[in-house]
Amino acid sequence: MSAIKKKVGKKVIKNAVSKTTASRTTNQNSLSKKKKKIIFMGVESTAHTFGIGIVSSQGEILANVKDSYTSPDKGMIPDEIANHHKDVAEKILVKALQTAKCTWKDISFISYSAGPGLDPALWAGYHKVKEWSTRFKKKIVGVNHCCAHLSIGALTSNAKDPCYLYVSGVNTQIIVQINGKYRVMGETLDIGLGNMLDKFGRNVGLGFPAGPKVEQLAKTGNYIELPYTIKGMDISFSGPLTRSEQLFKKGEKVEDLCFSMQETCFAMCTEVVERAMAHTGKTELILVGGVGANKRFCEMLGIMCKERGATFYNVPLDLAGDQGAMIAWEGWLRKEEYGDVEIKPHWRADEV
Ligand code: ATP
Ligand code: FE2
Repeated sequence: MSAIKKKVGKKVIKNAVSKTTASRTTNQNSLSKKKKKIIFMGVESTAHTFGIGIVSSQGEILANVKDSYTSPDKGMIPDEIANHHKDVAEKILVKALQTAKCTWKDISFISYSAGPGLDPALWAGYHKVKEWSTRFKKKIVGVNHCCAHLSIGALTSNAKDPCYLYVSGVNTQIIVQINGKYRVMGETLDIGLGNMLDKFGRNVGLGFPAGPKVEQLAKTGNYIELPYTIKGMDISFSGPLTRSEQLFKKGEKVEDLCFSMQETCFAMCTEVVERAMAHTGKTELILVGGVGANKRFCEMLGIMCKERGATFYNVPLDLAGDQGAMIAWEGWLRKEEYGDVEIKPHWRADEV
């Protein structure tokens, strides 16, 4: 059980624990060598990905195995996704336990993504977790998927009191923590940035998910002006999306549209994040969520932070998108607060 796939530095763990969990979980003493290492499992199933992570109380990621639904010509079909999760669950479980070199006896509890997410996908994950919890007599902890993205960002950075930019499929939110509670400073008024790229990709034949392909194609593109839509501290992506689709039908090159969508939408997010940082006085930014894998986006946010003397962190690539390790870690942080909460398809980070 000692095989450690990835060891996160002790200093980093201290920061993460002191910042995100001050009153609700262990204090830094729990990280001392005297305390027994606790190992737990996290199950992710809110959308396209079924993943299982096995993590220790010291923040070591012992296994992080996943299988994601993809499609060459369709978007996310909820029932197909649920069937995907049911089909791969046992296989992923075996691989995760093997990778972590542990057995069910070593696992102290199972946390799972209770929401937000697609109902059929959430039920598929929840029923599997209930089955395993009954069979192996483990307590379950339902956690918020968005908070899990934030917590894994905190665990893997040195940030003490950051502003978070959470950009994934469904979500685009600028979040800060005030008195231990997450507060949304700004967010998308319509679709999430990832879903916007995926929708565009589907309509121009890039398949699902389109984000990584858009990033590749953008490398050879030229700029075309698109609507730049910020309303107060909120953002709207439907304007740039509709315009890009119209321009595609008129014969504009996909490469140019990919480049222009990235430049326009990433700049919109960067502007609002900068305003949030100026308003709150935060001097650290953590980029989390699947779109955080985009190098150009990191570059733009990095430049903005540098210019204002702030520090930019982006979550490591393998922890940017959906996976079980972040659910396991969030479960560890919230194990005293939450238990079996069934599913919560519309659960927001600021309701936690
Ligand atoms: P949420 O966290 O809001 O529930 P999700 O679970 O679908 O959404 P993630 O797995 O965090 O989201 O992110 C998936 C999204 O990230 C997809 O929309 C995908 O297209 C996008 N994405 C992945 N890689 C890249 C990239 N390199 N550039 C841009 N977008 C990307
Ligand atoms: Fe996600």
